[in-house]
Amino acid sequence: MSAVLKTDALKAPPLKAETKGLSFYYGGFNALKNINLPVYERKVTSLIGPSGCGKSTLLRSFNRMHDLYPGNRYEGEILMYPDNVNILAARIDPIEVRMRISMVFQKPNPFPKSIYENVAYGLRVRGENNRSRLDERVEEALKGAALWDEVKDRLHELAFNLSGGQQQRMCIARALATDPEILLFDEPTSALDPIATASIEELIHKLKDKVTILIVTHNMQQAARVSEYTAYMYIGELIEFGETDEIFIKPKTKATEDYITGRFG
Ligand SMILES: Nc1ncnc2c1ncn2[C@@H]1O[C@H](COP(=O)(O)OP(=O)(O)OP(=O)(O)O)[C@@H](O)[C@H]1O
Ligand SMILES: [Mg+2]
Repeated sequence: MSAVLKTDALKAPPLKAETKGLSFYYGGFNALKNINLPVYERKVTSLIGPSGCGKSTLLRSFNRMHDLYPGNRYEGEILMYPDNVNILAARIDPIEVRMRISMVFQKPNPFPKSIYENVAYGLRVRGENNRSRLDERVEEALKGAALWDEVKDRLHELAFNLSGGQQQRMCIARALATDPEILLFDEPTSALDPIATASIEELIHKLKDKVTILIVTHNMQQAARVSEYTAYMYIGELIEFGETDEIFIKPKTKATEDYITGRFG
């Protein structure tokens, strides 16, 4: 099976990033196979596909999360634009990559700190200690994550006191605080109720004015609601990529059609 890439360059918006011949190995296991994925600027791209197909592995490659474990190996490139830099290159510091490309996980993962310190965390790692600048950035990030009004009077309470949906928005604020260019979401609503899910989806919709978004989801309706582009993956390969409407209405491959219509997976 080969990836069917849309080549309508006239219609396509500018690229924020793209993977070129990206393969990934967990030791001897080849989890990603020659992935060529465009990531368009200030658009939302969904990654869909059956469990174990490599969605999280691909997402984690974008912020060099795999570097934390020995034996993991990348091949190929992830180019970021406009600077045209391969963020997988050995000379590129993974910490810097994680400032530019932040991640929000499936389950909210607050640090055992106050709301304020959770959001300020990445800024402090970067060496920012000026109180008024921190205050400003924390407020801005919490506003960006649509949480400010709910927490502005309790910024110094432990983050664990927040509801699950609030914790997830706080994690989004934490991800936003360093002003990233790309946000990665790995099934960000799978632990949330429908109301909290709707508020995160609405937030994603607003965020794309500023930031490029890649989201993994198991929920086809969610992919259709939030994303302009969709990539269908199967056993480590990118099977089909295109505009979300096209993928859902007239997929080019039978495999994609079977998956989105629920005949498989
Ligand atoms: N740390 C690891 N070591 C070895 N193999 C791994 C590791 N993490 C994942 N894998 C394997 O890599 C493949 C892709 O896993 P990945 O977690 O990326 O899938 P996924 O598409 O995100 O699945 P799900 O929808 O269940 O979250 C799977 O076969 C998985 O078993
Ligand atoms: Mg996963």
